[in-house]
Amino acid sequence: MNKDYSKYFEPSLKDARKRIEKETENISFTLEEKYIGIGIGLTYLIKTYGCQGNLADSEKIAGILDLLGFQEIDDESKADVLIFNTCCIRANAENRIYGELGRLKGLKKERPEMLICLCGCMPQEEVTIELLKNKYKQVDIIFGTHNIHMLPSYIYEAYQTRKRILEVYSMEGNIVEGVPIKRAHEKKAWVDIMYGCDEFCTYCIVPYTRGKERSRLPKDIINETIQLVKDGYIEITLLGQNVNAYQVKVENGNYTFANLLEDLAKTGIQRIRYTTSHPKDLDKATMDVMAKYPNIMPHLHLPVQSGSNQILKKMNRKYTKEQYLEKVNYLKSLIPDLALTTDIIVGFPGETDDDFKETLDLVEKAQFEGAYTFIYSPREGTPAAKFTNQVDPIISKERLLLLNKYINDGFARGNKRFEGETVEVLVEGFSAKNPQLLTGYTKHNKLVNFVGSKELIGNLVNVKIEKAYTWHLKGKII
Ligand code: 5AD
Ligand code: SF4
Repeated sequence: MNKDYSKYFEPSLKDARKRIEKETENISFTLEEKYIGIGIGLTYLIKTYGCQGNLADSEKIAGILDLLGFQEIDDESKADVLIFNTCCIRANAENRIYGELGRLKGLKKERPEMLICLCGCMPQEEVTIELLKNKYKQVDIIFGTHNIHMLPSYIYEAYQTRKRILEVYSMEGNIVEGVPIKRAHEKKAWVDIMYGCDEFCTYCIVPYTRGKERSRLPKDIINETIQLVKDGYIEITLLGQNVNAYQVKVENGNYTFANLLEDLAKTGIQRIRYTTSHPKDLDKATMDVMAKYPNIMPHLHLPVQSGSNQILKKMNRKYTKEQYLEKVNYLKSLIPDLALTTDIIVGFPGETDDDFKETLDLVEKAQFEGAYTFIYSPREGTPAAKFTNQVDPIISKERLLLLNKYINDGFARGNKRFEGETVEVLVEGFSAKNPQLLTGYTKHNKLVNFVGSKELIGNLVNVKIEKAYTWHLKGKII
């Protein structure tokens, strides 16, 4: 008898908050024989929202669907399986997705045989599940962040039973190795090194949606990287919610992020990046390794969130403005041309004008060359959503606009320093805005446009920068 998925495993934020001392299990992906070929003659499209973690997950979903025989297409109206890999970090991320789903009601009516799937972070929230169950009945399959590897069984059951499938786990989480990956780029690859987060910053939903912090084994990450080098990849970006917390117990102690970074630098991959870092856990050993190996890129994304110590405390960030600057200054003493970027939230509950001034002061002192800036968005189930002194949205907006002016100046300044310099660019393709120009990123993660031919795509080339703009550089290949 087929399992009635609609009665199983709805999410619970309370369960998701639990952290029990239990060894993380390493599971291997396997494909049951009955699923082989279920996608032959059928097509799929994945729409991805949110962070790099979701981009990496979508590459796994695509890998699984390809393995089942499905073919990827880019026309939503023709897809037999349409997957939304969702984000719930802020309310506006969710609202966009609800808008998209609403739009699909008509399409589902026209083509009832199509499967609409929703996965990622949104289904890990109880409120979302209630809404989906009652108002978005066009969604056929709902699964979460912990069970991507079970997608073949969900699709199979959906085709067999034509019933809605809902399976979301609120558990600490395991590690699933061996999931096929269909990489979006031929030269740049995401490499997951850890999953989950145990930080519980008071504003953030991620520890609830992604489960316990758990690190992949070094051998699995190193072997994946060695294979990428063999396959001609030039750049890897190591991924985790807090990569600096990466840790695996070994015979004589702990194998840390610094150890991993050094071992990966020795694989010969030409460019290594990593994201995201936590200022509390970024240690001297990691910074020393960064400075030692030229194939670790001189760019660091180090989210600070606020420059006010009292707000940082309320956010549960566990560092002060001074400690943040101390680490940045140490890294800049080792790598003077470092490009530093960050994330900042304005309008966190209780943020006063003076707190905000502290943030602007920090922006000046840290000399950021880019930032993602956000207005605080209350997330149900997180501690900060219950804080009483929420900031007036008009004030938050004003603060965001002023902050962005500072950040944009930093962006322009960061680009300006390369005028007249020759930089190495990994060529990604033609610019979407101007198809006459090739486009790519430098070691410092600066976007460069230049005239060149198609054959250069996927190569490292030297470009002499002629002019710096706020958001990009323009140059000539040499
Ligand atoms: N409201 C606004 N921004 C948030 N972020 C995380 N949670 C929230 C929230 N509730 C921001 C942080 C984090 C980035 C990925 O998103 O700045 O670093
Ligand atoms: Fe969220 Fe904080 Fe974890 Fe980052 S470190 S994912 S902001 S809880």
